Amino acid sequence: MAKLNCVTVLAPAKLNLALDVVGLLPNGYHNLDMTMQAITLYERVVLRRSQNLSLTLPGSPVAANDSNTAIKAALAFFHYTGLLAGVEITIYKNVPVRAGMAGGSADAAGVLVGLNVLYGAKLSMSELCALGAKIGADVPFALMGGTCRVQGVGDVMKALPPCPDCWFTVVMPDYGVSTPEAFAAYDKVGSSTHPDCEAQEKAIRAEDLAGVCAAAGNALEECSGARDNEAIKTALKENGAVTALMTGSGAAVFGIFESEEAARSAAEAVRAQWPQVYVARPDRGGARVISPKWML
Ligand code: C5P
Repeated sequence: MAKLNCVTVLAPAKLNLALDVVGLLPNGYHNLDMTMQAITLYERVVLRRSQNLSLTLPGSPVAANDSNTAIKAALAFFHYTGLLAGVEITIYKNVPVRAGMAGGSADAAGVLVGLNVLYGAKLSMSELCALGAKIGADVPFALMGGTCRVQGVGDVMKALPPCPDCWFTVVMPDYGVSTPEAFAAYDKVGSSTHPDCEAQEKAIRAEDLAGVCAAAGNALEECSGARDNEAIKTALKENGAVTALMTGSGAAVFGIFESEEAARSAAEAVRAQWPQVYVARPDRGGARVISPKWML
């Protein structure tokens, strides 16, 4: 087989169809119960063989330093496999940052999946997930993708059948949210909202979109104090969303729609006030190599 010099990976963003906080761990992390959904909004990660390790993020303000999840993922991969090699990483970012959409985790997942193929390391999905969990709580899901019930700190994952057919309109306000700050606010204030993840799992299995929406909710929303949350949710619902909620620790807020037409017309209606709007649908996969084509 020809030696591969370059691979391109698509790594989807995620939305939380539900996020509940069910406990606090001694290390300060939170025990969570969540439904995570991969969506058709992608980071594009290009990896080229190199003697050195480098990262560029064209057009993105995200720093390309050692604290970047992509660099952490590459270092973890080379350490684990013992390969004496490097990689030139280019990430074309499409997922907003500080949005609660796991863009940084998608970048790490993209690097792990891509390096595995580029260097023919043949690590299993569970080995990649174990490496990913050390980089960030959402990396295992970014590797698995699709629709998952996710518990623990984000590391206990159960794949669910695909979420019922629907569309999402995602609004990113003109501010972001820091995840540690969101959890610190939760520790002070708590929440009166605790979505029913069990009911949502049943609704997904029953292909019941109304049930999925009825059980949707986010325990981090009340304490987030994010200025536009209520206004965005009202606007999305007034424009046809079955329900609307914040994703992850914010700041993005999304509506769930029954049709593409409804999702796109809601996006047009809110664009004047919130220009950063995305329309997407559920994606059934996680981070995956899309080129070279003969690999697929
Ligand atoms: O693991 P990751 O870097 O994505 O998490 C960011 C921060 O979110 C952590 O430093 C922690 O403060 C908080 N967190 C948490 N409980 C989780 C996941 C994240 O408290 N289950």
